[in-house]
Amino acid sequence: MPEGFTILAGTANRPLATSVARLLGAALGRCTIERFPDGEVHVCIDESVRGLEVYIVQPTAPPVNDHLVELLIMADAARRASAAGVTAVIPYFGYARADKRSDCREAITARMVADLLQTAGVQHVVTIDLHTPQAEGFFRIPVDNLTAVPVLVAAVRNHLPDAPVVVAPDAGRVKMATAYAHDLGVELAVLHKRRESGTRTMITHLVGDVRHRGCLLVDDMISTGGTIAESARTLLAAGALPDMIACATHGLLLPGALRRMRAAGVRQLFVTDTVLVDSMDDASFVHAVPVAPLVATALRRLMADGSLLELREAGRG
Ligand code: R5P
Repeated sequence: MPEGFTILAGTANRPLATSVARLLGAALGRCTIERFPDGEVHVCIDESVRGLEVYIVQPTAPPVNDHLVELLIMADAARRASAAGVTAVIPYFGYARADKRSDCREAITARMVADLLQTAGVQHVVTIDLHTPQAEGFFRIPVDNLTAVPVLVAAVRNHLPDAPVVVAPDAGRVKMATAYAHDLGVELAVLHKRRESGTRTMITHLVGDVRHRGCLLVDDMISTGGTIAESARTLLAAGALPDMIACATHGLLLPGALRRMRAAGVRQLFVTDTVLVDSMDDASFVHAVPVAPLVATALRRLMADGSLLELREAGRG
């Protein structure tokens, strides 16, 4: 294992950072993160990082703004402490959904966050299942967009009914759903979703035959659970078998999300631990699949200038 690196954890998902460090044979670097009484963040790296490669593990999960600012401040602290390089490991990359302007005077937050990270001193980004992979183009620095599809496929495989159909809940997820269907060797169906608001979606079309079939609904992220719930209802109405399974890389699982999906007929949910999941009280419903081995493998290869091709979404065709 190469020496000359340290792993720092933000506060968004310390267990994940600890697991990654352990798999790399290291302990987490010492770093104090505090809030001033007025809410400002104060970061102090408590040991020398001069000449070291610094990997900061911080998903920008809710509360998104707090975790993003903390990451920026940690990167600035590492850069000013003469780190040889600063890599932001952002397993869940928030603000990625706004990657273009639609019909009003909006910000393109994915681009804005890319600019902020680079300004703060980040020289490399490692992330997982970026909402729109082309957002990599917003950066001038290398971005390695890994995919958790293989680990989720391995986790869900033995829970599926016979001859299931993988279902993409909207057009944006067709490529990801195709990867699931390919890896599982099953058929694909696609729903067309119209987003009415941040909390309300409407499914308008179903392409594919789901009659008398079990369904595996897949998505990159689950926030309110509205997309999966609405999709499950549509599939049941189209003749799919009950007891559906849902699978997503990032389980933001806002309050009410689990209840919403269960009420719509979802019986099991698989998410990774890119986002720290609080709702593990319902372990028979929610399965949390670890991504530390994927992240640690990627970092190990980065440190050795090795290829990440087959770990990346783009490398899987
Ligand atoms: C949207 O394009 C995303 O891929 C997800 O489908 C969406 O963000 C899920 O959000 P929610 O769970 O609130 O419907």
